[in-house]
Amino acid sequence: MIPPGETIGILGGGQLGRMMAMAAAQMGYRVHIYAPEEDSVAAEVSAAFTCAPWDDAAAMRAFAATCAVVTYEFENVPAGPLAAIAPTPLLAHPRALETAQDRVSEKSFVQALGGRPAPFAVVDNRADLAAAMERIGTPGILKTRRDGYDGKGQWRIMAPADADAIDLPNVPLIYEGFVSFSGEFSVILVRGADGDIRFWDSAQNEHESGILALSTVPAPDALQAQVPAARDLARAIADKLDYVGVLAVEFFATSEGPVFNEMACRVHNSGHWTIEGAVTSQFENHIRAICGLPLGSTALAASKVEMRNIIGDGAQDWAAILSDPANHLHLYGKGTIRPGRKMGHVTRLTL
Ligand SMILES: Nc1ncnc2c1ncn2[C@@H]1O[C@H](COP(=O)(O)OP(=O)(O)O)[C@@H](O)[C@H]1O
Ligand SMILES: [Mg+2]
Repeated sequence: MIPPGETIGILGGGQLGRMMAMAAAQMGYRVHIYAPEEDSVAAEVSAAFTCAPWDDAAAMRAFAATCAVVTYEFENVPAGPLAAIAPTPLLAHPRALETAQDRVSEKSFVQALGGRPAPFAVVDNRADLAAAMERIGTPGILKTRRDGYDGKGQWRIMAPADADAIDLPNVPLIYEGFVSFSGEFSVILVRGADGDIRFWDSAQNEHESGILALSTVPAPDALQAQVPAARDLARAIADKLDYVGVLAVEFFATSEGPVFNEMACRVHNSGHWTIEGAVTSQFENHIRAICGLPLGSTALAASKVEMRNIIGDGAQDWAAILSDPANHLHLYGKGTIRPGRKMGHVTRLTL
């Protein structure tokens, strides 16, 4: 057990790290952020900050030496430099991080556990893409295998001719068949150091331009009917990886049951509603898990919860938002507004 008062290291300096740091601080932990960008919204609320590139092994080693445990809020931390963290434990799990960083390896991993992703093919050049469209059909989505988030690094292909217009980037790609879904949902679980697993209610997630816009709990009945099968897969993933912490798995609800989309080996945007909407938030339970503490209840704390992202310059009238007393405003303190950038979120509870 890592007792309060000790230092928790977090790789990554964004809003997920900020909310994790705030949950850690509430329980008396110190937080040390490691991130390559100078302006870190996580460092702003933390005790210590190492600003260094991911591949600076000396900086990584010095950072880890100050921490009782290290975790990550950013999925695309390159795997190589993580060796410098030992002997400090790195949780949820280094192998989980590596598996989820590559869309092909995560889909193959999940398939081996009996999960069902969209049909997919590896694409390294135009010939591969033509062959993939031929085998899987259109419509489909071409994605970068690594480093994609919020719909970035994706090209929708409605018909084979659309592919000609794409300026293929010189990185490994994946082509996925387009899944016709009735809705999207996520399974978020926390697994403790002793293997204890708890699930939060699954939110229905609605995306706009590939970016999460709205999460609603409880999800409609038709989606909820698919949650048990999805939970079985999420549990199998967590057990297989001997995972410790919060894991998020995104699914498409289809007429043939849940189709695996992707997993995030960290806290997730579709779990932000748990800060006010659940007895224990995903952030608090992640900290509890990595510190070897007993997990808190994941039960709903309201009859209905809606979490709406504030994206780009989408919402600015804070007083109007707060004039509804059921709303909770979360702003991440990002200085620069950019189109598609997540600036904050609003959670509305119906008791
Ligand atoms: N194969 C697919 N079929 C249908 N919709 C998809 C597919 N892949 C992605 N999408 C849509 O795009 C969104 C973002 O894609 P995702 O693979 O989750 O990338 P990101 O890593 O950017 O979150 C999904 O939540 C879904 O709405
Ligand atoms: Mg996604």
